[in-house]
Amino acid sequence: MDHFAYRDRTLLCEDVPVPELAEKYGTPLYVYSEAALLARLTEVQTAFKAADPIIAYSVKSNGNLSICRLMAQHGSGFDVTSGGELHRALTAGGSGKKIVYAGVGKSDAEMRDGLAKGVFLFNVESEAELHALGAVAQSLGVKAPVALRVNPDLPPKTHAKTDTSVKGVKFGLDIETVVDVARSVVGHPGLAIVGVHMHLGSPILSAEPYRQGAAKAVQLVKAFREMGHDIRFLNMGGGFGISYRKQEALPAAAFAEVILPAVKETGCQLVLEPGRFIVGNSGILVSRVVFTKETGGKRYVIQDAAMNDLIRPTLYDSFHRVWPVTPAADVPTWPEDCEAAIPNTQPVDVVGPVCESGDFLAKGRHLPALSRGDLLATFSAGAYGMAMASNYNSRLRAAEVLVTGRTHRLIRRRETFADLTACEDDCLR
Ligand SMILES: Cc1ncc(COP(=O)(O)O)c(C=O)c1O
Repeated sequence: MDHFAYRDRTLLCEDVPVPELAEKYGTPLYVYSEAALLARLTEVQTAFKAADPIIAYSVKSNGNLSICRLMAQHGSGFDVTSGGELHRALTAGGSGKKIVYAGVGKSDAEMRDGLAKGVFLFNVESEAELHALGAVAQSLGVKAPVALRVNPDLPPKTHAKTDTSVKGVKFGLDIETVVDVARSVVGHPGLAIVGVHMHLGSPILSAEPYRQGAAKAVQLVKAFREMGHDIRFLNMGGGFGISYRKQEALPAAAFAEVILPAVKETGCQLVLEPGRFIVGNSGILVSRVVFTKETGGKRYVIQDAAMNDLIRPTLYDSFHRVWPVTPAADVPTWPEDCEAAIPNTQPVDVVGPVCESGDFLAKGRHLPALSRGDLLATFSAGAYGMAMASNYNSRLRAAEVLVTGRTHRLIRRRETFADLTACEDDCLR
């Protein structure tokens, strides 16, 4: 979290003290660092430079328009998985020439829209989808550019809810049958099979699954070409992990080392779909302590961010560092091991106001004594944070702020009660 650092015992995002942001914009508040976002995008672009890749930022990880615009302005394309995400990518300034359309359940309308907007690659995940896309393209008098998404049957071991390349998940075409599927559409008037796609899961902390996946992809590229398909794209998806706890993640260069040789062997253009790697550690969630309480022998810190703001802990058992924005002098500002029993701390559950026992940001975490009004930072919250936020319990979704050096600006205003009922007001009788 290079661009989030403590100075004089106060957390800063770039050069802006986080308490100043909380004061101005209120809490809960997502705070992003522009420098961090660009540094991570540049890291991927540099690591894979030799392959002249299309880096398609994965909109699902954080679709904020201003973040997407920043990506587009700095050379990124987009990986979208719905009509809504395509709308975001285009509104932010993206071009179909750098947009890849993923998803197991694209509707005809979404296919039509993607074709009309000139999406350069559709990742196709089933035979049924392939034929539906072919028919839609034919009806428009065009050929849909397709990468067949293969499930390579590799276990990167992320989490049961985020493993996408183990046998039996809903994603992709089975590696045993994908060659037959490719053969069955040779010469199809509505389909141009131009690529191979795989997305191995997320977050992945080892390069080995990519090495194995890329080797399988090379074989498929060869097989598809032998049957006459003009394969030009090798899409290795996203999934590069980030450090949530210590320094457990790999640099982009480690993934490049195992992917680039495969790209070279095939002569394909590389496509990557990173999301978390770019935005995950570029954002934090700032919240304010509402109450503390002890019950059943446990201590609770109740603060104003909840599972509707950041669902990852309860959905995936995910770990996020949580630490005071202005820690007292008797605790470290950045404990090396944030899971350890740090001196002058006590174990607490950090929970939110939502009416669910599963509403927590951290459990059994060693934190210093906290009081009503204290600010907390939940780190590594940039990816799959706001993107998965909801209005559950009719809570208003948080505001988002982008920091650039000493300046900051709102990139999504806090919702209002009017926003909450906007889609229902006209239906009220
Ligand atoms: C097909 C596909 N591509 C890319 C991504 C982005 O993954 P990550 O944010 O881990 O890079 C996902 C995430 O689910 C995905 O399903």
